[in-house]
Amino acid sequence: MNVRKIERIEDLRAELALRRRSVESVGFVPTMGALHAGHASLIGRSAGENDLTVVSLFLNPLQFGANEDLDKYPSSEAEDLLVCAASGADIAFCPPPSELYPGGFSTYVNMDGMTAALCGKSRPDHFRGVMTVVGKLFNIVRPDRAYFGEKDAQQLAVVRKMARDLNFGTEIIGCPTVREADGLAMSSRNVYLSPDERAAATCLYRALATAGKRIDRGERDAQAITDLVSRTIGAEPLAELEYAELLDAETLESVGAETESMLLAVAARIGGTRLIDNMMFDRAKPGKNGQRS
Ligand code: PAJ
Repeated sequence: MNVRKIERIEDLRAELALRRRSVESVGFVPTMGALHAGHASLIGRSAGENDLTVVSLFLNPLQFGANEDLDKYPSSEAEDLLVCAASGADIAFCPPPSELYPGGFSTYVNMDGMTAALCGKSRPDHFRGVMTVVGKLFNIVRPDRAYFGEKDAQQLAVVRKMARDLNFGTEIIGCPTVREADGLAMSSRNVYLSPDERAAATCLYRALATAGKRIDRGERDAQAITDLVSRTIGAEPLAELEYAELLDAETLESVGAETESMLLAVAARIGGTRLIDNMMFDRAKPGKNGQRS
């Protein structure tokens, strides 16, 4: 299968205008490159549900803080294009930074409320950067459906709300987290881990799975559940917990009577690498958490 690489907004718009004459639906998968099986699952899902799939490969500087890993973020465009093609993508949009952020760029998308929760506490400008680039990409691609991983549950909730609040007309589709055989959630950042750190990193999944069993048995006390996560991660010498929280998956507020899906989210540093993971649970049905991922 062939994927067409496009670098300029103008060229992408022209290509999409042409293709839209013969296709009904356009699916879109935004990524920062360094693709792995998690990304491939999103692309495959889009290819299965749409006539045309666009993947963006763009390392978005706007969503990185000053002391974060922008400079060392892995990049592998040639391999990424092969993953795109093998997963069924039609177009790979690979703009240089100056294409999305020309000199004088100064307009941003902000959201009150849920962007301050969870990762927003240690990454205060992160979601502004994510929303701004996703909003720009939605305006350029104008997709019918866009695919995001549940691995980044807060990002999924924020993008869903942004699309609704700003009437983008794009359906936001959440896709299950793809994991390594030992449970570690796949992430472009896993390559930073030394062998010892890689072994230690499974504590995030182990902590979530242990707490998940408690939830399955009917536990609903948020403190008891997050304490269990903290203890499991605390037992791993190479891990430093940043947060463990149980929240409403849609609003990212405390679990309440209206909560349908609960999000158990965790962030921890393993050596110098910050990793996040989560599981989702149906609040009303202990023991029937089929949507857990
Ligand atoms: P990136 O980290 O490259 O992730 C792109 C998409 O892949 C996101 O929707 C993310 O949730 C999903 N993903 C990552 N790991 C996954 C896994 N193990 N299983 C399933 N899906 C997974 O997220 C971003 O890029 C950026 O913030 C972006 C939305 C592209 C904006 O710049």
